[in-house]
Amino acid sequence: MGIYSRLIFPRLLDLSMSGQELSRYRQSLLAPVRGEVLEIGFGTGLNMPYYGDGVRSLTAIDPNVGMAKLATPRVQAATVKVDLQTANAEALPMADERFDAVVCTWTLCSIPNIEQALAEVWRVLKPGGKFFFIEHGLSPDRGVGTWQQRMTPLQRRIADGCHLDRPMANLIQAVFAQVELQEFYATDLPKLIGYFYQGVATKPPL
Ligand SMILES: C[S@@+](CC[C@H](N)C(=O)[O-])C[C@H]1O[C@@H](n2cnc3c(N)ncnc32)[C@H](O)[C@@H]1O
Repeated sequence: MGIYSRLIFPRLLDLSMSGQELSRYRQSLLAPVRGEVLEIGFGTGLNMPYYGDGVRSLTAIDPNVGMAKLATPRVQAATVKVDLQTANAEALPMADERFDAVVCTWTLCSIPNIEQALAEVWRVLKPGGKFFFIEHGLSPDRGVGTWQQRMTPLQRRIADGCHLDRPMANLIQAVFAQVELQEFYATDLPKLIGYFYQGVATKPPL
């Protein structure tokens, strides 16, 4: 991992993702999260203030060690017990059916093999477990979508592998049959990066 990814990008990310609008989405997504929880793509820990009393434990993974350094003060300030690990969502080092909930915020855009990561989310969820997500991705507006496809090669370079043009709903629905989903443009972001998919996918109970 190069200096840009490890030292510079985590700081840029922390600044750019700690604004009020994203914080409101974090709050609404995380309020119903309960039980034994896994967060994939933990980043700098910006979701920490929004986990409620119903969370018994939080396991958090991110492959970028530069993120963990910035996340540590937020982890230390938390009331919930956090197990922060350096790991890749495409190959989670956790047992099958271990978690009540998996959380993922603006991370599926950056995982090289997103299908494999979603299969891993499914594997580690208990029957009846829930996948809470908010992601940016491909807009259904043709003009916006075309520009998202054009700009993705540049975005991948400057934003550490982030794709603008992933059809998140299709990718998640290919793994989870039951998905409550909202799609909308964020009000404070350019449309290229601001088409959001927020929802909860459920693994069927036994
Ligand atoms: C845009 S950031 C979002 C960080 C955090 N989820 C948030 O909401 O602030 C994307 C995160 O995905 C992480 N990431 C990239 N590839 C990953 C992978 N294969 N598995 C898990 N996380 C990954 C990055 O290191 C980064 O922390």
